[in-house]
Amino acid sequence: MKDLAGKHIVLGLSGGIACYKSAELCRLLIKAGATVQVVMSAAAEQFITPVTMQALSQRPVFGSQWDARAPNNMAHINLTRTADACLLAPASADLIAKLAHGQADDLLSLMCLARPLHTVPLLIAPAMNIEMWQHPATQRNLAQVQADGARVLGVGSGEQACGETGDGRMLEPAEILDEVIAFFQPKVLKGQHVLVTAGPTFEALDPVRGITNLSSGKMGFAIARAAREAGADVTLVAGPVSLPTPRGVNRVNVKSALSMLEAVMDKAQAATVFIATSAVADWRPAATSERKIKKDGAGQPPALDFVENPDILATLAQSKRGQSRELFCVGFAAESHDLLANAQAKRLRKGVPLLVGNIGPDTFGQDDNALLLVDENGSRELPRDSKLALARKLVADISYRIRTAV
Ligand code: CTP
Repeated sequence: MKDLAGKHIVLGLSGGIACYKSAELCRLLIKAGATVQVVMSAAAEQFITPVTMQALSQRPVFGSQWDARAPNNMAHINLTRTADACLLAPASADLIAKLAHGQADDLLSLMCLARPLHTVPLLIAPAMNIEMWQHPATQRNLAQVQADGARVLGVGSGEQACGETGDGRMLEPAEILDEVIAFFQPKVLKGQHVLVTAGPTFEALDPVRGITNLSSGKMGFAIARAAREAGADVTLVAGPVSLPTPRGVNRVNVKSALSMLEAVMDKAQAATVFIATSAVADWRPAATSERKIKKDGAGQPPALDFVENPDILATLAQSKRGQSRELFCVGFAAESHDLLANAQAKRLRKGVPLLVGNIGPDTFGQDDNALLLVDENGSRELPRDSKLALARKLVADISYRIRTAV
């Protein structure tokens, strides 16, 4: 099922060079399953033509409140009555100022004012020069539109079309898409602070070599994304992987099991849910050579000694905070066989209320997975699906457990 299946989005473009990105945004929304109705201000039509937006959205574009195509001549009313959201991208400083004051002198601003306030949310992706963005008037107007219920999706930072550098660029189309998808997810973890570990650890032997494993981090990153979509504050402690950080997630990069333990214990104080998906190396070299270990010329491999790494999940789950009602701990188990029996034994050994089993070789590096949820009452299967779909189901399951815990 596509993330925006069944959703009807009114995509409003106001004047700004970022309009060229709205063509791609329109495509992405449709690819995600939405239907899109484009509305453009006269200024937007200076930057990109309605023809482009009509071709991409497969619907006539509206630009004027006097458009005779609306049988009742009330395009400003009709356009939002079947909408699930109005997305303004780009939203210019001028459009935001109009919204803040309830002005309605063109179709786009009129339509926003005339939309049913409580059933058609307004999502705003601003785009403007850094000086305009930072101006107290703009910030005042943004605060006002948020107080009136609009959701401001934020801005990007970097080089601007005008040649200046800083905040004010419109978010990239893919980032806006993620925000829209997140907006429609149920906020079942609102108020929770979720801490997730993900990826492998890397245990250095010398400056150029080390011990690691094939964990891709994808399941943990999907869980971090799903928890943020569900309204939680999310911290992701990630081993060495090159995955992009899910939007709105705080990421702490670590390498070794010891540095992961340190980051987790530090962040755990504020956490209410801990989900350990990381494939932590069980052992690390007893000593790390400061210099590259050289061949001895006689064909004799170096003798390597290992020591066991701390168990991060067990350490936290069995700590005072882990034992209190304030922190709900969830473990993962990567097994190669006897999933149920191994997962049950591991749950007891780690001291966690919920353990999620999966078959390691079937999931490492893949985009989909199958999960087995094991608790004191038994087990439940989440059949093979994309990691993000499974992550959303797991998040819903955890939220239910937290809400019904006695
Ligand atoms: N884990 C951890 N710290 C470790 C080892 C594992 O936090 N040093 C966590 C993992 O993130 C996962 C769970 O413990 O949530 C189980 O990890 P797994 O590798 O399946 O099990 P191990 O404890 O390493 O046991 P074994 O290798 O014997 O199966």
